[in-house]
Amino acid sequence: MASSTRFSFCSVVVIVTLGILAGFTGRSSAQLSTNFYSGSCPKVFSTVKSVVQSAISKENRMGASLLRLHFHDCFVNGCDGSVLLDDTSSFTGEKTAGPNNNSIRGFEVIDKIKTRVEKACPGVVSCADILTIAARDSVVILGGPSWNVKLGRRDAKTTSLAAANSGVIPPPTSTLSNLITRFQAVGLSTRDMVALSGAHTIGKARCTSFRTRIYNETNIDASFAKTRQNSCPSTTGSGDNNLAPLDTQTPNSFDPKYFQNLINKKGLLHSDQILFNGGSTDSLVKTYSASANTFNSDFVKAMIKMGDNKPLTGSRGEIRKNCRKPN
Ligand code: HEM
Ligand SMILES: *[C@@H]1O[C@H](CO)[C@@H](O)[C@H](O)[C@H]1NC(C)=O
Ligand SMILES: *[C@@H]1O[C@H](CO)[C@@H](O)[C@H](O)[C@H]1NC(C)=O
Repeated sequence: MASSTRFSFCSVVVIVTLGILAGFTGRSSAQLSTNFYSGSCPKVFSTVKSVVQSAISKENRMGASLLRLHFHDCFVNGCDGSVLLDDTSSFTGEKTAGPNNNSIRGFEVIDKIKTRVEKACPGVVSCADILTIAARDSVVILGGPSWNVKLGRRDAKTTSLAAANSGVIPPPTSTLSNLITRFQAVGLSTRDMVALSGAHTIGKARCTSFRTRIYNETNIDASFAKTRQNSCPSTTGSGDNNLAPLDTQTPNSFDPKYFQNLINKKGLLHSDQILFNGGSTDSLVKTYSASANTFNSDFVKAMIKMGDNKPLTGSRGEIRKNCRKPN
């Protein structure tokens, strides 16, 4: 009797301890909050928004590029601003990794935001949080939903090329099961993955990312393939960087047209079309294509979850002065 009581008491202690440890070491978001800067930098929101707004006014695509930066940041070692680090003598950063080289962009806009925010509140706001806010603002400015972002992330002091090349960011040639696995690895469900893929309602891709699809795949609308072939030659090495919109209907609006394209076999990337190809995610694609409200609300939930991935909080990491380099 006594020993069984002791046993269950110990079990409870162990379970509670494991729970607490998981809370601190896992993809904890316990310390992120929507009012993190309300005392220390209330101007952060208006400052970020005005720079994002002017960047998008100059070039519509920039909204897409900023949204993607946050995604690539969060998938590599958590949302810690690591994607922004330039190479140094002690490490090679993520910028030349396969998924990023000649592709990710928007660093000058982040620099501009950081300069303004540092002027308003020196040493307070992390680059990782700036990415989170800029991604949200981009979605809103391009006509998508708004939400309160959770803040309080700190910046990594280092990163590595290998981390970004390890496959954690899935390639556009991915199978559906690889996409599901990669998102699961950062705490995101299949539903989150499909909703987040809806980010491809804005922005552009290079010929090299969709060449095989438009020449060799069969689950593609023939006239759509032909049109894309006009600006993407079949030979590797020619026209590799030629761009095409990810959403062929409304490339500058955050809307559910991306999902309609998939139903019409007009997904640009293999990884887009695979979401509607007779598999387990077909019904969700149909749901999103028919309901902006459902897409928007699932997208928001998934963005918040993605932003919760393994942030550095408390005294871990630092608040970078310059987003490109450790202090
Ligand atoms: C599901 C897995 C995903 C794959 C395989 C994927 C792959 C890609 C590829 C290959 C490109 C074009 C890159 C180029 O050719 O330069 C791209 C662009 C883009 N991706 Fe994704 N992506 C995925 C998920 C996401 C997520 C979760 C987001 C954000 C929430 C996102 C946002 C974007 C945006 C906005 C662009 C356009 C960027 C620009 O125009 O600068 N993607 N993606
Ligand atoms: C990145 O792209 C540049 C320019 O095309 C190329 O010279 C370089 O080899 C690439 N880097 C890597 C690591 O692939
Ligand atoms: C299409 O497939 C053929 C046969 O496998 C291959 O030789 C060719 O390189 C592929 N073309 C593209 C653009 O991927």
